[in-house]
Amino acid sequence: MTMSTPAPDTVDLGDPDTFADHDLDEFWRTVRDTAPVYWNPPADGRGGFWVLSRHDDIMATYRDDVNFTSERGNVLVTLLGGGDAGAGRMLAVTDGHRHHELRKILQRVLSPRVLDEVARAVRAGTRQLIREAAGAGGLDFAGQIAGRIPMTTISNLLGVPEEDRDYLLARTKAALSTDDEDIDEVDSEMARNELLMYFMDIVEERRESPGDDVISMLIASSIDGVPLSDEDVVLNCYSLIIGGDETSRLTMIDCVRTLASHPEQWRRLKHGEVAIDTAVDEVLRWASPTMHFGRSVVRPAELHGVRLRPGEIVTLWHASGNRDERIFDRPGEFDLGRTPNKHIAFGYGPHFCVGSFLAKVEISELLMALRDFTTGFEQTGQARPIRSNFLTGFSTLPVRFHPDHSGLKEADR
Ligand code: HEM
Repeated sequence: MTMSTPAPDTVDLGDPDTFADHDLDEFWRTVRDTAPVYWNPPADGRGGFWVLSRHDDIMATYRDDVNFTSERGNVLVTLLGGGDAGAGRMLAVTDGHRHHELRKILQRVLSPRVLDEVARAVRAGTRQLIREAAGAGGLDFAGQIAGRIPMTTISNLLGVPEEDRDYLLARTKAALSTDDEDIDEVDSEMARNELLMYFMDIVEERRESPGDDVISMLIASSIDGVPLSDEDVVLNCYSLIIGGDETSRLTMIDCVRTLASHPEQWRRLKHGEVAIDTAVDEVLRWASPTMHFGRSVVRPAELHGVRLRPGEIVTLWHASGNRDERIFDRPGEFDLGRTPNKHIAFGYGPHFCVGSFLAKVEISELLMALRDFTTGFEQTGQARPIRSNFLTGFSTLPVRFHPDHSGLKEADR
């Protein structure tokens, strides 16, 4: 698909179609150079908002939870829609002392030590899927492989029964309204409520008979001596599903798509010329699946001579910051050996992604399985872009893998 380069004053970053139809590289370069604090005017019934595009401004704003808050929403849809129903209870939209305490609880349940078993399951599952795919001819990588890994991982973590996982995947996609043009805000809202109700039932069950899953651990947790309420637990389960599935899935899809079109980078990976951890970071920088997050101004602030007033919305664009030539050498080049790589795909500061370790495990296992079981792969048809002003990526990716017979034989031993 060829995408047009729009004139800067015609771009509306609140409109999901802007991202599906346009190549914004030139737009972002112009904004970074000439309007680092850029005003996206009101349009289509949506209010206006500030846009930060430079890497260091984005980091500084992420770090600053005194002048800026997440409690009125942290993505455009809630920021413009008047707030987030989970404010003060769901980690991502809670600030201050309660955020600090809640984050400690989630960090505990998502720590590398606790995740050891989950990581082993990710490894086994991913290797199994890629081994099967290597001998399968053509398939849709998005649906048949990437759709299975993160949702299985989060479901294992939460102790969600296997038969419910397809339902959760469908509801998660609808909640973020990314997969289907026919899903509107009302359908998304309904999907979000269904997910919350689903978790409400599970929380009730786990109160009766606790297990060793994250939901049971959350139920047993307290802040300042007060146990988390059912609603607190439900909202944070919801946030793990929403935060942990689609972001990782889109990154994996973009990873395969990008490697298929960069044979020289694939060769470096295949021949062990790049460290897997380094490659994972470049995959994350390149994909930047969450295009933006945002904050509301709570105290008057000034940036590059622009005054930000309390109540105004400030959006932070990873899609631009991760291509900022002030920070990255040759930012438009996909280089699996890139070091240093200070990408901001996981955000920064107090709300830095609490699932980053798990996400990195998933992407590195994918890279290693591709390296071990295939000699390469090709994209065999068009990938369908998702439609969103928050996430970027593709919902389908037809590919054909070429099996590495010696790698496959080795694994069979
Ligand atoms: C926070 C990105 C995977 C759960 C964040 C933030 C970003 C991000 C940018 C910061 C939001 C803000 O500052 O407002 C990503 C990307 C991922 C990924 C790119 C995959 C490639 C995951 C996974 C989980 C997860 C696997 C769950 C296991 C969360 C949660 C927060 C968060 C709960 C809120 C943290 C807080 O507010 O303290 N993520 N994430 N994410 N992420 Fe992730």
